[in-house]
Amino acid sequence: MHHFTIEDGRLFAEQVDVTALAEQIGTPFYCYSSATLTRHYAVLAEAFSGLDMTICYSVKANSNLGVVATLAKLGAGADIVSQGELQRALMAGVSADKIVFSGVGKTASEMEAALKAGIAQFNVESLSELELLSQCAEHVGVTANVALRVNPDIDAGTHEKISTGKAENKFGIAWEDAETAFDRARSLPGLNACGIDIHIGSQITSLDPFERAFTKVAELHETLSAAGHDITRLDLGGGLGVPYNTSQDNPPSPEAYAAIVHKTVGGLGCRLFVEPGRLIAANAGILVTSVIRTKQGQAKNFVIVDAAMTELMRPTLYGAHHEIRPVTPRQSAVRHWDIVGPVCETGDFIGTDREMSEPEAGDLLVVYTVGAYGATLGSTYNTRRPAPEVLVTGDTHHIVRRRPDFDDMLALESVPQHLK
Ligand code: LLP
Repeated sequence: MHHFTIEDGRLFAEQVDVTALAEQIGTPFYCYSSATLTRHYAVLAEAFSGLDMTICYSVKANSNLGVVATLAKLGAGADIVSQGELQRALMAGVSADKIVFSGVGKTASEMEAALKAGIAQFNVESLSELELLSQCAEHVGVTANVALRVNPDIDAGTHEKISTGKAENKFGIAWEDAETAFDRARSLPGLNACGIDIHIGSQITSLDPFERAFTKVAELHETLSAAGHDITRLDLGGGLGVPYNTSQDNPPSPEAYAAIVHKTVGGLGCRLFVEPGRLIAANAGILVTSVIRTKQGQAKNFVIVDAAMTELMRPTLYGAHHEIRPVTPRQSAVRHWDIVGPVCETGDFIGTDREMSEPEAGDLLVVYTVGAYGATLGSTYNTRRPAPEVLVTGDTHHIVRRRPDFDDMLALESVPQHLK
């Protein structure tokens, strides 16, 4: 469910005429819908009603300040993985006591910044990280709430690059070492080891891996409690998938996912956290791009558009499918096209083998379900200017990230004196 429509050959986001916006600000650009973000958050919050649940939006999915602030206003917390994301979350108005800090590579300065901000919890992934956090907490003079991220060795059945809960992945503490790690955490100053954390992967389209993982968490909770640990928090990670190809994908509903949470860990009396990113943001964003020209290759037909792998990495990085539609389909014969960008790599494509009538230069195409891991994965390769981001709310829009000019982009670089 989203709030982007095409009516009489014009594209709308909520009540905003995006075709007019394209003429005004130029393409490519990302457009996000506040109503869609709000709806996804509300559906999830409603599904978890009756549980002591904090929804920590995973900022990496879409870290635009306007997007994070939209969710913060609804009461969302944040799952962050860097000091930059901490700064964004705080600037966007997320309250520090709803921020959890994940990731295998937290540095001392990042830990100290988060400790000073008073975040809710550090999700710690190794013994050496635990020791460093203890030192930092002592240095800052505060106690850090710690959840230990354990690796349940469960195959989430998703793309190998976004699977995180298998033994061979870099994430978490080995399941069999968990008890020793909690003992160690208890012995270190400056730490309150109060939680178990897992995250098994992203774009998970079956409930079974979640159920197995949460069941293991409940068992570990029991083992640790029996050993005298006071485990009062469980962080269940993110990962619930979304439909990218609406005619094929059928991921579980938030309600079905919440029912699994209720069933497996709902009765343990713990404060619960989840870290959804994609589920909230993916469907709330489109990428609007213009056709530059079409080209008949030797073996294929190409639509060359002004968006590229620099705006949307997912197709080339994961073989991801995103629906692409023309705003005004032409009357010409339908053919098969690869939709490609101007970047000098064969891997630069937005979609392959798509059926479409031949568009003309200047026609607008819409790429769907790009609100998560779209803009955030972007790059400036080929010295391309990052696409602006627009947030629509009802009949108003805000440019929540402007297109930099080339001077902005080059301002951080300089030519050494001896080369001038
Ligand atoms: N928590 C942790 C610790 C994570 O590592 C992630 C995502 C999430 C939460 C949020 O997961 P979500 O609910 O969005 O599935 N760039 C990839 C996705 C990478 C996900 C990395 N971790 C993509 O475009 O598919």
